[in-house]
Amino acid sequence: MLVTKQPVLRRFWYPVIEMKQLHQSPKSFELLGEPIVLWLKRDGQPVAVQDRCCHRSAKLSGGKIIDDNIRCPYHGWTFNDCGKCVHVPQLGDNPIPSSYQVPGYKCIERYGYAWVCLGEPLVDIPQIPEASDPDFRMIHEFNEPWKVAGLRVMENELDLAHPTFVHTTTFGSGDHPIPDVMEVNETEWGLVLEATLGVVNPPLQQQNLKMENDKTTRLLTMDWFMPFTCKLRIAYPNGLIQIIVNTTTPINDSTSQIVQFCLRNDTEADVPAKDVIAFDRAVTLEDKAILETTDYDVPLNLSLEQHMMTDKPGMLMRRKLATLLKEHGEVEQTKGS
Ligand code: FES
Ligand SMILES: [Fe+2]
Repeated sequence: MLVTKQPVLRRFWYPVIEMKQLHQSPKSFELLGEPIVLWLKRDGQPVAVQDRCCHRSAKLSGGKIIDDNIRCPYHGWTFNDCGKCVHVPQLGDNPIPSSYQVPGYKCIERYGYAWVCLGEPLVDIPQIPEASDPDFRMIHEFNEPWKVAGLRVMENELDLAHPTFVHTTTFGSGDHPIPDVMEVNETEWGLVLEATLGVVNPPLQQQNLKMENDKTTRLLTMDWFMPFTCKLRIAYPNGLIQIIVNTTTPINDSTSQIVQFCLRNDTEADVPAKDVIAFDRAVTLEDKAILETTDYDVPLNLSLEQHMMTDKPGMLMRRKLATLLKEHGEVEQTKGS
């Protein structure tokens, strides 16, 4: 599946830029192959419109914010938060033609990010109740592009056969090539996987978990929210809960922005955020090294790759996405189509 060729994927929300990055100046981003520009209005709300002026195609992101609007750096045409041109310096008091307009997109703040939907949303932004639970602190971990398809990362998150081979310096255990328990159930817009996995704990992780055991069991509850968000809840025997939320925002067919934050029911005094990030960074880099070798054209047709028992979540993801395309009258687009 080539993500930019499936219009239905424009009808989901994606986190594109951290809100704090918007405080200085407008910022550009490529979402599903579409150039967009984001800025903040005076009330602090984020705005997104196409980053291509309708006059001579200059990038609006190089322009200036004036009140709540953005002024093109080339000839000064100014566009509002809906993308409508509201000022043309060369026109004086003459009316502005209604065709002077760039596409505007839905944009809202959630979890410290500006989220954008390029079309009419099919479903709300994934609910993460712990993000507003005072027992949990939020740690922003990564926000960076990887050369990988989002679906490969989603499958990887719910693939409990890979830690033994990929996470060899972090938590993978040679004694546990498969989970002890694994149950997958479908939801309307995703999947829930419950599993128990034996893992090892290297020294930094023992420190982060406040545990001296070099081996333990993780109780995992993993939610996949169609198409590219995962919430991984890990419960440790000592009561610690770490929730990792990960969205692979599709930049174009072969590249995704990896947006990851976590929530933990402990405090900075218990474990500094930098140590949590350091361990999760090591885990993530192990995944990145493998995932960037995979083909970005992930086939939804199950006969085109081979599967095993632990691939059940990935197979269901592919089936659900194939059904979504069908329901919206789309045929899967691939490199060969
Ligand atoms: S290109 Fe934007 S005002 Fe001319
Ligand atoms: Fe992994």
